[in-house]
Amino acid sequence: MNSFDTLLQSLRAVVGAANVLTEGDLSAWEQDWRKRERGKALAVVRPASTDEVAQIVKLCGPAGVSIVPQGGNTGMVVGSTPDASGTQIVLSLQRMQQVRALDSANLTVTVEAGCVLQSLQETCKKAGFLFPLSLASEGSCTIGGNLGTNAGGTQVVRYGNTRELCLGLEVVTAQGEVWNGLSGLRKDNTGYDLRHLFIGSEGTLGIITAATMRLYPLPAAQLTAFAAVPSLEAAVELLGLAHRFLSAGLTGFEVMSQFALGLVVKHFPQQKVPFQQDAPYCVVLENSDHESEAHARTQFERLLEAAMEHGCVLDAVVAESMAQAKALWHIRESIPLAQAQEGLNIKHDISVAVSRIPEFVRVTDALIQQSFPGARMVNYGHLGDGNLHYNVQAPLGADAQTFLKEQEPALNALVYASVDQFGGSISAEHGIGSLKRDKLEHHKSPVALQMMRAIKTALDPQNVMNPGRMIRV
Ligand code: FAD
Ligand code: MLT
Ligand code: ZN
Repeated sequence: MNSFDTLLQSLRAVVGAANVLTEGDLSAWEQDWRKRERGKALAVVRPASTDEVAQIVKLCGPAGVSIVPQGGNTGMVVGSTPDASGTQIVLSLQRMQQVRALDSANLTVTVEAGCVLQSLQETCKKAGFLFPLSLASEGSCTIGGNLGTNAGGTQVVRYGNTRELCLGLEVVTAQGEVWNGLSGLRKDNTGYDLRHLFIGSEGTLGIITAATMRLYPLPAAQLTAFAAVPSLEAAVELLGLAHRFLSAGLTGFEVMSQFALGLVVKHFPQQKVPFQQDAPYCVVLENSDHESEAHARTQFERLLEAAMEHGCVLDAVVAESMAQAKALWHIRESIPLAQAQEGLNIKHDISVAVSRIPEFVRVTDALIQQSFPGARMVNYGHLGDGNLHYNVQAPLGADAQTFLKEQEPALNALVYASVDQFGGSISAEHGIGSLKRDKLEHHKSPVALQMMRAIKTALDPQNVMNPGRMIRV
């Protein structure tokens, strides 16, 4: 029996033979969501408790087998799937789904890492609270993955990224120790705040097994509007007005180019997109109100009237019902799927200051058309946070695979050089994974990279945790 067989036997003793998968179709764990890379796992191991996670780590380290933590496998940067070596295990948290406690007075919920985001939202709602993190992948992504990537989504403008929603963590370290940092404290200045090291570390420092997250009161009303705007400049002006008129009620502000909306119409013709034909951009806005629906509606009407007077809105509809609101959000949330249906594509999850977004797009669009004539820009995203999915689809009629193979490196270099010029970030919310690891080395300062490597080698000296992802050591 070789050392891998011995390890597999020990892992079976920990989690049960049915939870060490080595045969059959493992594509759900080995293939990334965007179908950019297919890896090969030594095994997919599915623990049911923190103690089992700790035992797995203690077995893998000495056996020289590295670990890829995985939640819903919806990540965008090839960070949650194994490499092609066949020597890594995928540690899937999917069986660890329990909500351990909900503290109404403290406004916190403590939940295991494998809990699906939508399920957590629903549990909290039933208890009368809002868990505000919201992403189009919420039906599959997990709270552990959200923390691992510090996910953003559509409510960041009001509630912040996943990091801002987290008060405490339970983590299994790279040595297989359990760190119980599940505090629900809002104030705790007792040295380095370790939770922030693990949030956004993409599985490279340890395995998040549970978390204590902030809750909010459910709003009395959540209204959604869909507005056509004449330009990105106008969208930014509308955002300023929305902040002024709605204040903390502004809980969503998403922008979509006409081309991005066109892809939704093309691939999901059952969806009814208002204004898509005429306006260069549309915006989805959400107003959450703690008084009443009537109050929220009046506020929205005042905002939209003012915006039309300023000329920054051409036309707008306000949803009359929850069903209509859902349908409007569904249009925005369908863009990644529509883009995937259109074919392989290049994603740029960038951020620059909101005020500089229009100029960034104008300048970078022109550079792209000069060097890559016919490239189709699929531009949409979280304008309220200065975060655009400035994506590129191959020219019409071109073979997407060939286009990506031949042009992606140069196209990325052009876009990221422009991001640097505008003082922005090459990854606003999706993380680095293996797709952007080499880019990070060119866009992060040497001092920052050195500190990141020092943290990685201090916490994971054997490089057991998701090696080769995010940062090379
Ligand atoms: P996975 O994909 O399984 O893992 C992601 C990373 O986290 C990997 O590096 C993995 O190793 C690590 N990880 C997973 N679980 C743990 C754990 N328990 N401990 C430590 N590390 C762990 N992202 C956004 O930010 N905003 C969006 O609006 C958004 N929209 C999306 C829409 C669609 C349709 C899709 C498909 C994806 C979208 N994403 C978005 C990307 C993705 O859903 C998020 O990154 C999400 O947080 C990943 O969660 P997951 O459970 O699927 O994690
Ligand atoms: C989104 O905002 O829809 C996501 O981050 C996914 C994507 O970039 O396609
Ligand atoms: Zn996004």
